[in-house]
Amino acid sequence: MEAKKRIEELTEIINQANYEYYTLIKPTLTDQEFDKYLRELENLENEYPEYASPNSPTKRVGGEVIDKFKKIRHRIPMLSLPDVFNEEEIRAFDERIRKSGFHPEYVCELKIDGLSGSFHYEDGNLITGATRGDGIVGEDITHNVKTIRTIPLSLKDKIDIEVRGEIFMGRTTLAQLNEERREKNLPLLQNCRNAAAGSIRQLDSKIAAERKLDTWIYHLPNPEDYGIKSHFEALNFMTNLGFKVNPNNRLVKDVDGILKFIAEYAEKRPYLSYDIDGVVIKVNDLEMQAALGYTSKHPRWAIAYKFPAEEVLTKLTDIIFTVGRTGRITPNAVLEPVIVMGSTIKRATLHNEDYVIEKDLKIGDVVSIRKAGDVIPEVVEAKTMRRTGNEVAFKMITNCPICGSLLEKKEGQVDHYCMNTKCPARHIESLIHFCERKAMNIDGLGEKIMEDFFNLGFIKSITDIYHLEKHQKDLQELEGYGKKSIDNLLEAIEKSKENSLERLLFGLGIEGIGDKTALLLAKKYKTIDNLANQCEEDLKAIKDIGAILAKNIHRFFDDVDNLELINNLKDLGLNTTYLGPEEKYDENITNKRFVVTGTISFMSREEIETVIANYGGSASGSVSSKTNVVIVGDKPGSKADKAKELGIEIWDEEKWSSVYNNLSSNEK
Ligand code: IVH
Repeated sequence: MEAKKRIEELTEIINQANYEYYTLIKPTLTDQEFDKYLRELENLENEYPEYASPNSPTKRVGGEVIDKFKKIRHRIPMLSLPDVFNEEEIRAFDERIRKSGFHPEYVCELKIDGLSGSFHYEDGNLITGATRGDGIVGEDITHNVKTIRTIPLSLKDKIDIEVRGEIFMGRTTLAQLNEERREKNLPLLQNCRNAAAGSIRQLDSKIAAERKLDTWIYHLPNPEDYGIKSHFEALNFMTNLGFKVNPNNRLVKDVDGILKFIAEYAEKRPYLSYDIDGVVIKVNDLEMQAALGYTSKHPRWAIAYKFPAEEVLTKLTDIIFTVGRTGRITPNAVLEPVIVMGSTIKRATLHNEDYVIEKDLKIGDVVSIRKAGDVIPEVVEAKTMRRTGNEVAFKMITNCPICGSLLEKKEGQVDHYCMNTKCPARHIESLIHFCERKAMNIDGLGEKIMEDFFNLGFIKSITDIYHLEKHQKDLQELEGYGKKSIDNLLEAIEKSKENSLERLLFGLGIEGIGDKTALLLAKKYKTIDNLANQCEEDLKAIKDIGAILAKNIHRFFDDVDNLELINNLKDLGLNTTYLGPEEKYDENITNKRFVVTGTISFMSREEIETVIANYGGSASGSVSSKTNVVIVGDKPGSKADKAKELGIEIWDEEKWSSVYNNLSSNEK
């Protein structure tokens, strides 16, 4: 019992010391004292493992290794913000809100250049950390989040809460890390954002711990649960709970205040210890936010002002041509390497012949390159004043740079195509595409590895992917590929055989068939054979398909090589049927927006929300005029009051129970 008490005491001392050191940046313990307490705690935990908490501060150094990332469904979607680039667009945002009859105050915040994360606490203890993912489903990164010193492992108040913010890497940390990597001859990390994203996606939390990640917390998804009325109040609330909230956040009265904040931080930006790429502007009043609501992608109460793109000059040393998966030829600028916005740029796409002609680019030109944040770098213009006369005019090629076939340019289109379906370049691109996340999702067969395996002769065709295990021994002996990584890869390949039809359809790379169309086709035709047997007319008749796609699909399934490939894949055990859920309908649920609050005795909130989603309804965390139904359980809180105020339909436990029990009994 003594040991248990001391463990608790030490945990509190160390958590507090971490908070003072990393979040407040006001240490009260000396390093020696801190180490002494930490060692004492480690020793006690070793001796009495039954008392060691999974959230112990001794876990900050990492140690937990996971096999793969689990998925986490966000209870409230993690939305992104619409970008604006100038004063006019900021004024338009403000006017739109004023026109709705509001007189808003705004909170200006720095737009941190990292990746967003969601952090869940129950009873004051950190339970999960997740990435944003696609906004609906993220990845479970709890093991790595525990190593971030500014994320409290336990809160000052023992409450249930979710907070969101940016996980980032400081500039000094990146510089130090790159110094070490340079000494070890490892490739350098390009910028703070990529470094943070790469670090948080490590399976081994020791690596993440070494990367010294940090956080700024900026969003409380459920403020009404804590009686909070404004965003600024929410920021203070989170600060008081022990989170690291940016001290530069500022409440301003109007657009002039916003512009002043932007001008100030455009100047201060180079001197900050972390990267920012703009300023986020949020309506302060939470009722106003709720009334303004959301589009499917963004809140209507916030925008992200992006600092202007950085432009630098460099030399266009060559224009080279690459062949894409569909045979499309792309001219690419080869540039003298320059750093723009923290990343080294050596290449930039020039899209097509017309683009190069329009920009009047010549090999040897001095050109300006622009890059903004995530945006792909682009060549802005040639500095024609700086021409010496030695520049070489651009000339479009006539033959495929890989297989030599004559290129074709279709009537009315700008792109040239290599029409040789057996062109090796086309082939490697199509293999990469087959494995990509939205296609067969074979983790570990990315671009680089596919190129290696292709060049080494292990994978020349899609079926070779499923014969890779024959080369297991050879692969393990390759430099850079250990037994574990090859085992994992083979397992991922094996697992991909069970994918639902839409992934295979998208992976096969039928021209013009994206993942959404693949899903549409899979849902409609259920099996690949059924789809293959459709005539062009029937395909054309489907909404969202049209004449061109119908032709492409038909042509694909008319090609004997493609039919042979499909048969071979079937023989190898690949699933070729649609496995996704059947669309379910219930008049009480389908197309309605729900909020679930309080406790329903026989089901958790998550279970209820899953049922709602399965029947084509949606569930959100806050009540607004758009909510159709609020399901109110025991101890409901302010959401129920708000629903009453807004006159929204309310279901109690009994009503939900009757709706639920009347749903078609097969798998609710
Ligand atoms: S607010 C609904 N505040 O910028 C609230 N985002 O597209 C959404 N970001 O995905 C986020 N600093 O990763 C917010 N102070 C800040 C931010 C911030 C950086 C990122 C975040 C988000 C993206 C906006």
